[in-house]
Amino acid sequence: MKPVYFDYNATTPLDPLVREAMRPYLDGIFGNPSSVHQIGRQARSLLDDARDRVAQVLGAKPSEIVFTSGGTESNNLAIFGTARLRKPKGRHLITTMIEHHAGLHCFNYLAAKEGFEVTRLPVGRDGRVTVESLRKALRADTILVSVMAANNEIGTVQPVAELGALCRERGVVFHTDAVQWFGKEPFQNVAQFNADLVSICAHKFHGPKGAGALYIRSPLQPDPILFGGGHENERRAGTENLLAIVGLVAAMERFVRTPVFNTEHLTPMTARVADFVGRLPGVELASPVTGRLANTVAFVVERSDSIALMAGLDLVGICASSGSACSAGSLEPSHVILALGFEPRLANALVRFSLGRDSTLAEVERMEELLPQVLKRVQTGQ
Ligand SMILES: Cc1ncc(COP(=O)(O)O)c(C=O)c1O
Repeated sequence: MKPVYFDYNATTPLDPLVREAMRPYLDGIFGNPSSVHQIGRQARSLLDDARDRVAQVLGAKPSEIVFTSGGTESNNLAIFGTARLRKPKGRHLITTMIEHHAGLHCFNYLAAKEGFEVTRLPVGRDGRVTVESLRKALRADTILVSVMAANNEIGTVQPVAELGALCRERGVVFHTDAVQWFGKEPFQNVAQFNADLVSICAHKFHGPKGAGALYIRSPLQPDPILFGGGHENERRAGTENLLAIVGLVAAMERFVRTPVFNTEHLTPMTARVADFVGRLPGVELASPVTGRLANTVAFVVERSDSIALMAGLDLVGICASSGSACSAGSLEPSHVILALGFEPRLANALVRFSLGRDSTLAEVERMEELLPQVLKRVQTGQ
């Protein structure tokens, strides 16, 4: 029987039409956009076209787009690049306690190795930061604020537009990791975030892995983190991966303005999932009831641990996650669950179901049948 794939926040399958758009770049188009001959010039013109088209979807200028290898690199470029650029103006950085590791670990490094001071804003039980807490944390020497648009583990959506507006008022650069936002939440224009930097990642909305972009609002010029050639207007060295970039463009054009994660399809299913798991003994919902991604339901399980839970679910054919993919298979506690105020032992017992385009009610029903058996097996003291 086909496995139930409830892990769309980890990644999504490549869309067939995106694959078709990419195919010529595997077969015939191979030039290096930096070469001056006709094969290179062809690649350059296709790269320029790709940048124009991403800018079009975002409502940005083509010069404001840097192609990257994905969400991790976009976050690294935004955070390291801005912190280092603006260091002469101050050494105070602000982020939250629930960022993805691709943001969090940049801040840890900057604090440990480069003399920055980092304030990590707390969140409520719903996983949300408040504008008030940001206002209190801002200082004269604050140079960068980074708050994710939507959380990958529990799905909380942050008030980024308000947070960004406050930063703009204070002259502080604002970055948002919108990796889990694109393709899921309403998108009209990148200006809606009031952000100077926005991270995008193609494989979260049926594009290829290893493809992403960073929107950099003009005239900001973060320091590069990759050095070499003068690619991407001196902002990111390395021969452009045209295949991946074309996949990113195709996925953005298809799935961002009209989010591929269709709320009407997903909301009734995840409401049912939340209702079901919330009634199971020893289970507590971690995702907020409102203000969350329509596809995400996370919960913690008493007297169990993530490894046993993931293995138990996998054995019955349900693909889920214990939070961020990098901690799957390890007993690393979820920093998100800890930040929500759950007891530390529960931070090792998180299950995340994230549904998507091809999820069905029949799969939800199958989960309802199988999850109680799995819990019975893995919960100790029953
Ligand atoms: C919120 C968020 N940011 C960044 C990333 C990193 O993306 P990638 O692993 O594709 O570089 C992820 C992926 O899980 C994510 O969910």
